[in-house]
Amino acid sequence: MKISTLLLSVALLGTMTVAQADIKKGQKAYLKQCKKCHGNGTKGAAMKTQDEWAAAFANDNAGFKAWHKGTKGEKYANGKKLKKYAPHLKDFLYEYGSNSGNVPSCG
Ligand code: HEC
Repeated sequence: MKISTLLLSVALLGTMTVAQADIKKGQKAYLKQCKKCHGNGTKGAAMKTQDEWAAAFANDNAGFKAWHKGTKGEKYANGKKLKKYAPHLKDFLYEYGSNSGNVPSCG
């Protein structure tokens, strides 16, 4: 009885930590990969609403690629780095999208 409660809390704690890590990873990736073109994370995430961010990263980042087509960001949008970090970037950008009411603590 006690042991099962303990196991459940450990499991819950585990899930929470993973979810948070993704937003943090996304923030880090944003600062490394997007900031040079779009400014800090608060400004970057506020470029779009949560729905727009979610849509942009669907279908192999098709929406994201469309935004960057024909710009200096095109190479990045089609590159391996974005592919690799897209799930984390999406978590971060969605969390702080313009209609989220959330503001990242730093960056
Ligand atoms: C090499 C520079 C560069 C990089 C790297 C880059 N972008 Fe862009 N991005 C641009 C340019 C140029 C445009 C088109 C002009 C504009 O809207 O600023 C653009 C457009 C956008 C738009 C559409 C803006 C609008 O008004 O509709 C969004 C959103 C965006 N980028 C987000 C990102 C995110 C998030 C990242 C990182 C995952 C990123 N970009 C990486 C240069 C870049």
